[in-house]
Amino acid sequence: MGCGNKDNLPKSYPMVGGDGPQSYAQNSSYQKGVMDAAKELIHEAIINKLDLSIMGLSHTSGTFHVADLGCSSGPNTFSAMQNIIEAVELKLIQLAEHQDPSALEFQVFVSDQYDNDFNTLFKTLPHSRIYFAAGVPGSFYGRLFPKSCLNFVYSCYALHWLSKVPEEIVDRNSPSWNSDSIHCTGSVKGVAEAYSARFRNDVEAFLNARTPEVVPGGLIVILISAVPDGIPFPKTAAGVLYDVFGSCLVDMTKMVRKNNSSLAVDFSGKPAGLFLTSGMAMSPSSSSSGIVARVSSSSSVF
Ligand SMILES: C[S@@+](CC[C@H](N)C(=O)[O-])C[C@H]1O[C@@H](n2cnc3c(N)ncnc32)[C@H](O)[C@@H]1O
Repeated sequence: MGCGNKDNLPKSYPMVGGDGPQSYAQNSSYQKGVMDAAKELIHEAIINKLDLSIMGLSHTSGTFHVADLGCSSGPNTFSAMQNIIEAVELKLIQLAEHQDPSALEFQVFVSDQYDNDFNTLFKTLPHSRIYFAAGVPGSFYGRLFPKSCLNFVYSCYALHWLSKVPEEIVDRNSPSWNSDSIHCTGSVKGVAEAYSARFRNDVEAFLNARTPEVVPGGLIVILISAVPDGIPFPKTAAGVLYDVFGSCLVDMTKMVRKNNSSLAVDFSGKPAGLFLTSGMAMSPSSSSSGIVARVSSSSSVF
């Protein structure tokens, strides 16, 4: 399998880089809240599910490899990596009956799309960190690492970014055309199905790519935007928000068309068929707010 092919890459939409007032670094407290809410769950998963002995790691030797996929350019990734490493160290202390776990070394890979502002990320690496750090550019929908390279994969608030907009929803001739909406309101059945199918394919691609990369006994933790069971997306806070954004954008495009104005609104040449590139996937299988998967053999992910 190729490991650096940038041909035919879908356009990526990186977070705003740098550390200015509009930057992701200054505007990611919501995502930090998601991470903080899951901290205890991740800790428990590490204590109860991570199998260090299968990996051949002990308190006396070895390197533990962690990857943050979709790390962006803000500080959340550093807190997440710190939390994971502290939990692994605690597990080692318990296993080694209170001996010093410091002999185990930690390698962290921060990974995001090619356009991500890795410079800001590297410049802001905490001085007091207890891990080695490296950046890995590329899409998590393909392979990013060599075989059996990772002990722990973490991805927070990133996997709901679909690999691409479902083609049907921007096709005027399709019954799934998402006419006057920028997201999945549920009003057109085919739209929900198109998003759901795209999400299913994307998650499958993500897991297929990770399967060879993660060692047996390793863990994959995914924190993802989701819809509570039984509540239609438009009735959730995010749904209401997108409806408001959507109607503003639709009004703007109508104004542009009416005035034949040159206002720079680029909706891929289809101003009346709007979409969110990170469209919310509404599938019953995505209704939980977190997924923890344990890699129990070298070739399968559950
Ligand atoms: C909202 S940010 C979350 C950042 C960080 N994980 C956090 O919790 O603050 C989503 C990130 O996912 C990245 N992303 C989206 N699609 C991706 C893909 N296919 N491969 C790698 N990263 C992707 C985006 O570039 C963006 O940096």
